[in-house]
Order: sequence, then C-alpha cells, then structure tokens
Amino acid sequence: MEISVTLLICVILPVFFIFLIRTSRFRRFRLPPGTYGLPFIGETLQLISAYKTENPEPFIDERVNRYGPIFTTHVFGEPTVFSADSETNRFILLNEGKLFDCSYPGSISNLLGKQSLLLMKGALHKRMHSLTMSFGNSSIIRDHLLVDIDRLIRLNLDSWSDRIFLMEEAKKMTFEVTMKQLMSIDPGEWTESLRKEYGHVIEGFFTLPLPLFSTTYRRAIKARTKVAEALSLMVRDRRRERESGDEKKKDMLGAMLASGDNFSDELIIDFLLALLVGGFETTSTIMTLAVKFLTETPLALAQLKEEHDQIRAKKSDPDAAVEWCDYKSMEFTQCVVNETLRVANIIGGIFRRTRTDINIKGYTIPKGWKVFASFRAVHLDPNNYKDSRTFNPWRWQNTAEAPSPGNTYTPFGGGPRLCPGYELARVVLSVFLHRLVTRFSWVPAEEDKLVFFPTTRTKKRYPIIVQRRKT
Ligand code: HEM
Ligand SMILES: *[C@@H]1O[C@H](CO)[C@@H](O)[C@H](O)[C@H]1NC(C)=O
Ligand SMILES: *[C@@H]1O[C@H](CO)[C@@H](O)[C@H](O)[C@H]1NC(C)=O
Ligand SMILES: *[C@@H]1O[C@H](CO)[C@@H](O)[C@H](O)[C@H]1NC(C)=O
Repeated sequence: MEISVTLLICVILPVFFIFLIRTSRFRRFRLPPGTYGLPFIGETLQLISAYKTENPEPFIDERVNRYGPIFTTHVFGEPTVFSADSETNRFILLNEGKLFDCSYPGSISNLLGKQSLLLMKGALHKRMHSLTMSFGNSSIIRDHLLVDIDRLIRLNLDSWSDRIFLMEEAKKMTFEVTMKQLMSIDPGEWTESLRKEYGHVIEGFFTLPLPLFSTTYRRAIKARTKVAEALSLMVRDRRRERESGDEKKKDMLGAMLASGDNFSDELIIDFLLALLVGGFETTSTIMTLAVKFLTETPLALAQLKEEHDQIRAKKSDPDAAVEWCDYKSMEFTQCVVNETLRVANIIGGIFRRTRTDINIKGYTIPKGWKVFASFRAVHLDPNNYKDSRTFNPWRWQNTAEAPSPGNTYTPFGGGPRLCPGYELARVVLSVFLHRLVTRFSWVPAEEDKLVFFPTTRTKKRYPIIVQRRKT
C-alpha cells in the first residue's frame, strides 16, 4: 500500500517539481550549491538510510566535502538549505521569530497539539517559554526537584539485577521524573498506563512521510487523545483543589494555574505534552549513551567511579540523598555529560523556515524555504574539536585547550527557543550516573551491541548485565 502510493507520487509530481525549479524566481538567487536528488522525494531516502549506518554524519559529511558547509538539498518534500557552519547556526538560532520561524510537518503538529510550546510563536511563545525556563531553573531544581529525581532513580535501580534493558529503564526513570516535576504524581498504575500510551505517541513522531497510510501514526493519534483525556481530568481536579484552597503542590501545573494568565485547559494540556515530548526521548537516550561511551572508555569510567565514591564516602548512610553541593562537586561528571552531549546529541539540529529572503555568507536563501541548522555536524567538525569523533571527556578539563562553548557547542539550541530542560537534563544524568557507578558494575550483553546513533526506529534496547558492587 505505502509503496504504491509512493510510486504514484513519484510519477505525478516530478514534472511539476522540475517545472517549479526551472521557471521559478529562485533562478535570480545565488542559492547555496547542492543537488536535489530524485523528483519529489529528493534525497530523503539517502538522508534516512544514512542515519541507519554507524557513521555518525554521512549525509552531511559527503555534501560538506563537495559543496562546503552550507548546501542545498531536497528532503521531506521540499528544498532545504543545510548548515554545518557554526556562525550560520548561531545566526539562525538568534533570529528565531524575526527572520526565521520554527517549522514542523503537519503530521507532527497534530500530535503535539495546536497550543504546544514547540509550535507557538510571537508574544505567547515568549511568555510561555519564560515560564518554563523559570520553572526548570537551578534554584527550583535545587530546592524542589533534586530530592525527587534522586529518590525516583534510586527506586528504579533498587529493582535491577542480572540483565536489564538500559534504554527501557532510562525511559521509565525519565517519564517518572517528568510526571513528578509537572504534576507531582508518583509512579503507580496510572503513570504506567499513561506511559504506555505515551510510547505510542512518540512512535508517531518517527513515521514521517505518509501519515494517512500509516497505522503507527493512526495509533499515535488515538494514543494522544487518550493521554490528553487523562491529563485533562488531572487539570480539572487541580483547578478544583485550588478553588477550595488546599492546593499546595509546587509543580509546573501549579505554576501555570497560579500564573494569572487564565490559561485554557487545552493550552495547559498541550503544554504539558510538549514538556513530556521535549524531555523524554532526549534525556533517556543521553543516559543510555553516556553508559555506552563510559563502557568503551574504561579510564573515564574509573575516574568517574572515583569521583562518585568520594561523594558517597562523605556520607554516613549509603542511601543518603544526593544534595546540591554534591552535584556541584561532580566536576569530572560534567565533562562526561558535555562530551556525551557533544558526540551523541540526539537532536542533531533544528528545522526552521525563512520569513524573508536571507543573505548569508554570500548566498541567498529565499523566503519560505526550509533550513536545517545541524548542531551535530558542528560538534563533529575536526576544525572545532581535535579528534572530534572520539569520546574524550578530558578535553573539557584542560582549561587552556577546553572548547569554548557558545558558537560551536549547542546541544540545547539557543536564542528564544533554548531548551528549557537543559539544567534538568544535566542533573538527571549526573544523579543517574552517581547512583549507577556507586552501586553497580556492568558489561554489555553481547548479542545486542550498542551502535553509534540509536533511534526509536532501530528498537535498540541496550541490554546490559549488572552486578551489585560490594560495599
Ligand atoms: C539531553 C536532553 C535534552 C536535549 C539534548 C534537548 C535539546 C533541545 C533542543 C536542541 C531544543 C531546541 C529546539 C528548537 O530550537 O527548535 C529543545 C527545546 C525544548 N526542550 Fe529540550 N532537550 C533535552 C531535554 C529536555 C527536557 C528534560 C525537557 C523538559 C522537561 C525539554 C523540553 C524542551 C521544550 C519544551 C523545548 C521547546 C522550547 C521552545 O520551542 O520554546 N528538553 N531541547
Ligand atoms: C527561578 O525561578 C523562580 C520562579 O519560578 C525565581 O523566583 C527565581 O529567582 C529563579 N532563579 C534563578 C536563579 O533564576
Ligand atoms: C478566562 O478564560 C475563559 C475562557 O477561556 C473566560 O470565559 C473567562 O471569563 C476568563 N476569566 C478571566 C478572569 O479572564
Ligand atoms: C559544559 O558545557 C557548558 C555549556 O553548555 C559550559 O557552560 C560548561 O562550562 C561546560 N562544562 C565543562 C566542565 O567544561
């Protein structure tokens, strides 16, 4: 079915497309160089298949070698300018809302909801973004969230023995932490069933091209409705609690209800979903990959263990909570976190759409075109990082040589859409590593080797065999 539809599209649209390119006003511009591939589908298949290989950046590498760091291609149904250039990326990030707008395909907007933070624009986006930023800021994490993050991670690790699927465990922990942060809900049957539905929603994000014909996508839409219903009940309960005056919960939902902006239920639900979407796959993947890189770099793992054993040694009770000052003392851990985000950031870059003709680096990108700012290409560029494709946490340690973040290091994006979860993700990963290395040693289970870039598509679950460390 899907193949025949694809074929149909490939036959009808090429003529139209070639016509468009040949006759359009685009000829006047000095477009970035590049190729458009096949009619309509362009180079989409090359892009997708490239990300199934072990090489981290084959699609972009090949084109950067041929055309330079800014090039044109044709993916997901339209011409797109790719940037592997740090200055251009920064320009794109900082001019969000002015020269560029965020851009998601319709299939994704339906899953996110019309009122999602990821789709909002203008003044409302600004307001909601700053509300989210302040809710995830370091003082809130220190005073409220850290205790729960540590407790929930510990709780999950308590049940580990023998063979576990790291990716699954990381997803469970991430989901539980986020539910707690957003709505003060502790893990239980309710969260587990929600998590299952939510998994279907996430799968929907990875079935890009033909939503109408994809059962995964239809299931995702259904699951989204279920999740939204469950959240809606929760929002109503909390409103009632507030009105009767016994609302004491300090969480994201509480902050929204208390904000005085009179947000509608629909907005709040889309908003909560956006936070779940933004934090779930990203944080859990980065937790898994940090373990993968450490496993492959025994010296780093040894140094990390030492750092965390020292923190534990200062406590009388082996289960004593991780405190903010402990987190702040995890110096080498922060190098590991930065390096993991550098070499394996799951958000490889961001799509935007130009609001006007853009002149940059001697090229013109026409109004209404898509651009893709590739963060990963910049992170993996040997001109920016020596031995850029090697996991080397020590590179962040040597202050003289340490990479200067800013232009060349943007795992969390930047500008008006800077990730509001950037600190939270770092804390979750650090606390997880703390509990992991002080409690367990592990080896990868052989039959399922970790590859460089896991995606939901590959269904990798990363089994490892864990063993409790003797204390
Ligand atoms: C390792 C973990 C994470 C990474 C690598 C990451 C990365 C990013 C990046 C690159 C963006 C910018 C997208 C853009 O400019 O269009 C972003 C946005 C966002 N992130 Fe994260 N993120 C992570 C964790 C989290 C967490 C834990 C949360 C929530 C609790 C979160 C919530 C969001 C939201 C809501 C946005 C949209 C912001 C907006 O459009 O204004 N992220 N993230
Ligand atoms: C964090 O946000 C809260 C409001 O949610 C604010 O009172 C506090 O000053 C902020 N702290 C920092 C360090 O920005
Ligand atoms: C809040 O918004 C609702 C509709 O969303 C409206 O009916 C109500 O009057 C508003 N209340 C205030 C105090 O603005
Ligand atoms: C890690 O990266 C952040 C920028 O995201 C930077 O501020 C911080 O100094 C880096 N940490 C280390 C240990 O280099």
